[in-house]
Amino acid sequence: MNRPYVIVNCAMSADGKIALPTRKQLRISSDEDIERMYNLRNECDAVLVGIGAVLSDDPKLTVKEKYVRNPKQPLRVVLDSKCRTPGSALVLNDVAKTLIVTVQGNEKHFDGDHVEVVGIKNDDEGRVDLESMLNVLHRKGIRKLLVEGGGTAIWSFLRRGLVDDLYVYIGSCIIGGKNTPTLADGIGIKSEDDLLPLKIVDVNRLGDGILVHYKPKL
Ligand SMILES: NC(=O)c1ccc[n+]([C@@H]2O[C@H](COP(=O)([O-])OP(=O)(O)OC[C@H]3O[C@@H](n4cnc5c(N)ncnc54)[C@H](OP(=O)(O)O)[C@@H]3O)[C@@H](O)[C@H]2O)c1
Repeated sequence: MNRPYVIVNCAMSADGKIALPTRKQLRISSDEDIERMYNLRNECDAVLVGIGAVLSDDPKLTVKEKYVRNPKQPLRVVLDSKCRTPGSALVLNDVAKTLIVTVQGNEKHFDGDHVEVVGIKNDDEGRVDLESMLNVLHRKGIRKLLVEGGGTAIWSFLRRGLVDDLYVYIGSCIIGGKNTPTLADGIGIKSEDDLLPLKIVDVNRLGDGILVHYKPKL
């Protein structure tokens, strides 16, 4: 299968949480990590989030000129099986192009030539089939994809062995809450045999947190 190189980037607390217990976003990254994240975003051809992140955070997913001079604004991709992206979502603004990836038959129209909707076959959970979506992205010229969350989307990419690089920023804070979103949500593994092993490529202190660069251990 032809697919883009897939990078996952996420910021979590020392207890592995990526948002408030209310699911609203909060800042976990240091200034240094924010700058790294925007530069990484700008180096990629596309940046992807799940509809959960769009509904809870309403992100723009653009690159800020404050951090990157002359940003090239990667394609924004939303995993959205039921086409629930609100017409007012900031990810649909005209600063960059947006691709809403839904399940065949659920396509909807959004205003603006910069927004495209593509219907893909569903996976065994009725969601967008990731392998097919990656193949479509590859055909559109996307060679480097940045997956920014949330936990359900990241879990799906990891579980299917579709991640090449995983960057985890560990902020020096605790959030707590047993239902608070984590780096990898979804249903999780069933037994120890299903563990998804990682190897550490690099560890760096960035401000008051730590950036760990992992790769899946093959
Ligand atoms: N700290 C960070 O770096 C960071 C970054 C981003 C987000 N977040 C946080 O993450 C939370 C949102 O995460 P979330 O887990 O609720 O939602 P999510 O991962 O953003 O989106 C998950 C949704 O995407 C859709 N989807 C479609 N195809 C999928 C597939 N193959 N695999 C997985 N999902 C698929 C599903 O909804 P449908 O069935 O409707 O399609 C699914 O429920 C928020 O609290 C946000 O603040 C944190």
